[in-house]
Amino acid sequence: MKRIAVLASGNGTNLQAIIDAVESKKICGAEVVLVLSDKKDAYALTRAKKHGIKNKFFDPQLYASRQEYDRALVAYLQEHKIDLVVLAGYMRLVSPEFVEAYKNRIMNIHPALLPAFPGTKGIAAALDYGVKVTGCTVHFVDEGMDTGPIILQEAVTVRDDDTVESLRERIQKIEHRLYPKAIDLWVRGKITIQGRRCFIDE
Ligand code: GRF
Repeated sequence: MKRIAVLASGNGTNLQAIIDAVESKKICGAEVVLVLSDKKDAYALTRAKKHGIKNKFFDPQLYASRQEYDRALVAYLQEHKIDLVVLAGYMRLVSPEFVEAYKNRIMNIHPALLPAFPGTKGIAAALDYGVKVTGCTVHFVDEGMDTGPIILQEAVTVRDDDTVESLRERIQKIEHRLYPKAIDLWVRGKITIQGRRCFIDE
């Protein structure tokens, strides 16, 4: 059984989709054993509680630097024998040490078709730019901001009357399907990484 930790800063709808996929066996051979947040009031922590999953607020103020914070986080993850770290709306950049400790075992989901519109405002940036197609991306995390090898992507058509909210709603719908799928592929050992490219052997 692979042991998954989810790191989230906010609402946690992706966390919920992952928990549901584990419970309904769409993700097989893995369990979410830990949910961590850098925000005390993150609803993601409440979702974890509701499903009897160990959860913890990791307070950034207790650490002098991002590096120290991540060092403590990695130690905690290792204590809990975590195999895969899933970032789901986690609003902190992870340090190179964290990336190294979990090399190719940290995933992230981003609400745009990377490498377009990285960063925290991906949906608004795509809309403002005027693209006709955007989407979402699941990728492994490297030292950069939203730059790691891409696992899965799916496109979403932008409508003339879209607002950030309406577009987010359609993108998130896809995210909730795509993220569990990527995790399931990883758990079943179906993803091979060569350089920047991920190959899926389904
Ligand atoms: C998602 O849209 C994801 O793409 C981005 O942050 C958002 C998190 O939403 N990285 P939620 O907390 O999972 O609802």
